[in-house]
Formats: sequence, structure tokens, C-alpha cells
Amino acid sequence: MNLPRGQLITKLLRSAGGQKYLLSTETGGTKGFDEIPGPRGPLGLGNLYQYLPVVGRYSFDELHRSGADKYARYGPIVRETMVPGQDVVWLYDPADIATVLDDRTPGIYPSRRSHTALEKYRKDRPNVYRTAGLLPTNGIEWWKIRSELQKGLSSPQSVRNFLPATDKITKEFVARIKPMLESQTSKTQDDGVFLMEDFMPPISRLNLELICLLAFDVRLDSFSEEQMQPHSLSSRLMESAETTNSCILPTDQGFQLWRYFETPAYRRLRKAQQFMEKTAVELVSEKLLYFNEDQQRLASGEHGSKSLMEEYLRNPNLELNDIIGMAADLLLAGVHTTSYTTAFALYHLGQNVSAQERLYQEAKAILPDPRRDRIGAATLGSEASYCRAVLKETFRLNPISIGVGRILNRDHVLGGYQVPRGTVVVTQNMISCRQETYFRDAAQFIPERWVRETREPVSPHLVLPFGHGMRSCIARRLAEQSMLVLLLRLIRSFEIEWAGTVPMDVKTKLINQPDQPIRLRFKPRSQ
Ligand code: HEM
Repeated sequence: MNLPRGQLITKLLRSAGGQKYLLSTETGGTKGFDEIPGPRGPLGLGNLYQYLPVVGRYSFDELHRSGADKYARYGPIVRETMVPGQDVVWLYDPADIATVLDDRTPGIYPSRRSHTALEKYRKDRPNVYRTAGLLPTNGIEWWKIRSELQKGLSSPQSVRNFLPATDKITKEFVARIKPMLESQTSKTQDDGVFLMEDFMPPISRLNLELICLLAFDVRLDSFSEEQMQPHSLSSRLMESAETTNSCILPTDQGFQLWRYFETPAYRRLRKAQQFMEKTAVELVSEKLLYFNEDQQRLASGEHGSKSLMEEYLRNPNLELNDIIGMAADLLLAGVHTTSYTTAFALYHLGQNVSAQERLYQEAKAILPDPRRDRIGAATLGSEASYCRAVLKETFRLNPISIGVGRILNRDHVLGGYQVPRGTVVVTQNMISCRQETYFRDAAQFIPERWVRETREPVSPHLVLPFGHGMRSCIARRLAEQSMLVLLLRLIRSFEIEWAGTVPMDVKTKLINQPDQPIRLRFKPRSQ
């Protein structure tokens, strides 16, 4: 093992005892890994018991609370031993976050330790998958698939190609809302205001519809009576994605007994994945069936709609098993991420009259006649600046991920402590973004902080909802585009008011989800 000189001295001195004084001098003031404050559990046996129901102070469903608690108890860097030999270092200081996420050691790729049970599920099925997919794979194997899969998905041009379809489906969706509200006549109030008990299921159906169209060129018709049934394809897909996500944290942490026998969490994940896999295989096979026909059509100059799967199938560097894995990942990651974020945005807008009014003015300028006008790429790029600010402020207060995880590729000094290569580090952006140290009126929803004329200076490593660097979200632009279109169209057509509990809290099911139904009052706008 090649340790840097300072670390070697630290180790030797520690074994010789009397480490404190000597450590500080020999490592130029840098303290050792063992000195990072944080919970280790009784006799150093690990803090996992604190996450158990009833006895524990923490819960995997409330990671934002445990994150805030650790910050208050231990400060901006915390080392938590989950079980012996399995530590997590939590980082709150943007300078340390930058050190980790900006690490560009040549030839080494950013690594994460997550979705380990999904990795096992897929590796056990080599007939279906060639790799475990983007989420759990690391190293060169990850880059080989990522560099190909991002081609049709991440570039501004590919995302722009999806805009007309996104806008069309979102327009249809917004047009459905009024009849949907009117059909619940008992909920109508005198002044033409309608109460919707939970707007989340409709938003999720819209996002499922969008991802299936963009990825597979398939209309699920998620709003039809048939698809609204609990056992329909769309209902089961949404449920399976939610179940898989909710099993990731409990299977990633702790002793990982599912490696030896099937635990209840692993069984739930397996069943949900089996359904998503079956759907992914069917959708990709269907695409493959028509692929040759489409090729002829394209060759004759007759351009049909190009879905992501067509791009992938045309790519000679991708194998069919890679494409099936990605199809399953798109169904897994493509619905709840955007739906929860939109719900958080509506929660904030529904309470902030002035922010909503400013967004409405912007939407009205972009869509003078919302039934006829379309949202074009140039407009979205240059005229939707307030809508972008609303989204960014939503991400500051309610990111769907508490932070970003990495396995350190090399030794680092973080918060004045030596942290060795191989350590699992998770940034705590959600907690830091709510601190007065970093944001004025940190608890307030103020999109103006992100508008050019009134912008406040802030570290670029605090609001990182999509992660950072080459490993960041592969669908960032696509997700942002869909959410901007929906917010613009929705606020153009309706005045909304939050009718749920304040403050809304979150539950961490891998991603943060609202802790309550999205209860909103809708008032259709007359013009
Ligand atoms: C509000 C929307 C979304 C947010 C906030 C979000 C956030 C994230 C974050 C934080 C990561 C980890 C980044 C890192 O480690 O640096 C990630 C990765 C990923 N996301 Fe998203 N995401 C969103 C939407 C989507 C959508 C719509 C899809 C698919 C259609 C998607 C697919 C993925 C995939 C496949 C990865 C793994 C990338 C890799 O490891 O190479 N995400 N996302």
C-alpha cells in the first residue's frame, strides 16, 4: 500500500500512542481520519441500530432530519460508522464538497456506491443484461456505457428535438385538468375555485407518458379510464419504480444479508424489477421489430419521429443488453424525480402570491394564446428566466436527493482531516442550502436570488440537484425542459393555492418525496 508520507507518519505515531500533539505537527495541522467527529455506535460496533424503528434516533425515511441532527451535533464534517468497516463521511461545507466533486484525477472515473442490490439482481441475469447499468456500475465499465448512452440524451440539440412532443403532451394534459376538476362537482366552490385532493397522481401519469413517448415512441394513454385502473401497465410501472426506489437505501446500508439469502426488501425489489424488466424488454423488442422499416423510411428521406431507443439501436457501440438495461433505468428514474420536483414547486408557488404572479406574467408573454401557441426552444432558452429561477429555488429548498455520493478515488484532506481513498463520502447539500451561513433568509422561497438583476453571490457547490461533473444526471436537460414546460403551461392557465399542511416535510425513499398529498385549489384563468 502506497501511503503519502504524512499519512504514514500518522499511522506510525498512532500505533505508538500519544497521537494528538504529534499528529498536528507531523501532518502540518491535518488531523487523522479517526479524529473526525461522529457517531460510531457502542464499542465502535456501528450506528446502524440508530436507524431501527422505535429504538433508533434516526430513520432511513428521514435522512434530512438525521443530516440536520449530525450537523448540529458534530459540525461540517461527520464520520459515521454504520457497521464495523463501513463508514460514511458526511460533508456540509461547500469547499469540501468542491474538493470531492471537482476531483478530476486523470484516468479515474467518479464512483458511487449505491443500488448494490439492483446490481446483484442484474448480474444474476446475464442473459438479459450485459452490465448492471449506469446507476451501480463504476470505473471504465461505467464510462464505456455512459459515453454511448448520453449521446442521444444529454446534448442540448437532442433535448431540443424532444421539445415539440413534450409541449404537445403537456398542452393536452393542462387541457384535461379543467374537465377533471369539474367532474368532482362536490368540490367546487362558489367563486369558480376547485379543490384537488391530490395532484401527484396526475403529474406522475404525465411524466410517465412523456418518458414513454420520448424514449420508446409509445403513447401509453396513461389518462384513459383503462390505464387509471390499479392493475394497468401505467399504474404498475409507477408502483414498481416507487417500490424499487424505496428498497435501495435499506439494501445498500448495513450487513447486506440479501447477498446470502433473500431478505424481504430484496424480494420486493426483485419483484418490482421483474415487472419493469419485462416491460423494458417488450418495449425495446417492439422498437426493434419496426427498426428496419423505420430505417427504410429514414433512408427515403421521410423522417419519422426519432425516439431515444431508435438512436440507441442505431449506435453500433451499444449492444442490445445495454439498451434493455437503459430502458429499465429510464422507467425507474424518469417519473418520480420530475414529478416530486414539480410538486415541490407547486407547493411553494401555491403559497407565494408574488412569485406566482411574476411567473404568470412570464408565461403570458410566452403563450399569449395557450391553446394555439407553442413553446419553442429559443423562447425557453431566453424568455423563461423567471421560471428557471423558480425551479432553482425549488431545488435549493427541496432537492429530491439529499446530496451526492462518491467513493473517493484518492486521499483527500477534508475539513482539516485526512480522508483515505476508498471512503464513501456523501455531500449534505440539502441541509447546507437551508443554512443562514450560505443564504440570506434561508427558509424563505425567493426565486429572485437566481434572477440576473437581483442575483446573490453564492458558492456553485451548494445547489447541485443533479449532482456534479461527468457523473451528474444523464437526463438533466431533458428533465428541466419537461418541468419548465409544465410550470409555464399550468400557471398560464390556472391560479393555484396550496391547501395542504404547512410546512410540508419530506420522506426519503432514496429520493425525497412530499410527506402528504398535493392538495391544491385551482382557479381557471379567464385570459
Ligand atoms: C428532477 C429531475 C431529476 C433530478 C433532480 C435527478 C437527479 C440525479 C442525481 C442527483 C443523480 C446522481 C448524480 C451524481 O452522482 O453526480 C442522477 C443520476 C442519474 N439520473 Fe437523474 N435526476 C432527475 C431526472 C432524471 C430522469 C428524468 C432520468 C431518466 C429519464 C434520470 C436518469 C438518471 C440516471 C440514469 C442517472 C445515473 C447516471 C450515471 O451514474 O451515470 N434522471 N440524477
